[in-house]
Amino acid sequence: MNALHKKGRLYGVGLGPGDPELITLKALNAIKSSPVIAWFAKAGRKGHARSIVAPYMPQGIIEVPLYYPVTTEIPFDHPDYNDALAKFYDESAAYLTTHLDQGRDVALLCEGDPLFYGSFMHPYIRLKDRYDVTICPGVTGMSGCWTATGIPMTWGDDVLSVLPGTLPREELAHRLENADAAVIMKIGKNFQKIRDVFDELKLTDRAFYIERGTMENQRVMPLASMINDAAPYFSIIVMPGNGRRPQ
Ligand SMILES: C[S@@+](CC[C@H](N)C(=O)[O-])C[C@H]1O[C@@H](n2cnc3c(N)ncnc32)[C@H](O)[C@@H]1O
Repeated sequence: MNALHKKGRLYGVGLGPGDPELITLKALNAIKSSPVIAWFAKAGRKGHARSIVAPYMPQGIIEVPLYYPVTTEIPFDHPDYNDALAKFYDESAAYLTTHLDQGRDVALLCEGDPLFYGSFMHPYIRLKDRYDVTICPGVTGMSGCWTATGIPMTWGDDVLSVLPGTLPREELAHRLENADAAVIMKIGKNFQKIRDVFDELKLTDRAFYIERGTMENQRVMPLASMINDAAPYFSIIVMPGNGRRPQ
């Protein structure tokens, strides 16, 4: 292919859980070498991924904010929610191609790890067969959060279950009951439901609640001490394993 028509490369840049020192060198190199830096955010906001990268943001690059059309305004199980998001991801991917087709590399910023519940996955699956892609893995939010507790998370043959707090109550209870160690993500308005499940299973005393793990305003406490009935977006519950007894 003529060098003039060489397409740009898409980078999925995992930035870790919030502390800018947890950005990898690979991620940093992708940020420094890309003329276009794109990031997802709630409408009108700077976006968390963009704020993690602020200390390293190069001058003179093109910034491409991709604003979600909805976040919590429509319930996530409503058909309109999925339709609005699918259209948004189609348009976002198409917009990124305008730069990639001009030969400009695009670094799409992601909190935590790009392939772990990451928004990056949506443009990625739309573009991966047409463009070169490099994914920079990141420290996950849950890893930052369990580190904040200082408690070892899994021993020996412990099975770790990662559960979205958005699961129906019965399924959450079933999976938690059978977990050796567990992480509950996406808590928000589901906090009280999750807390009730822990209480019913008598597991509350084994669990910790972490808010904004590794960020400046991080909070860590036993789950039993968390009294609010809702939690912010960046919050996680971890239940460390005890190690399985030999059968
Ligand atoms: C859409 S998922 C994105 C996960 C991300 N890609 C990762 O690797 O951690 C968002 C959820 O991750 C969890 N999360 C991510 N980073 C966190 C942090 N620093 N502190 C607390 N929770 C975090 C929260 O439960 C949040 O609702």
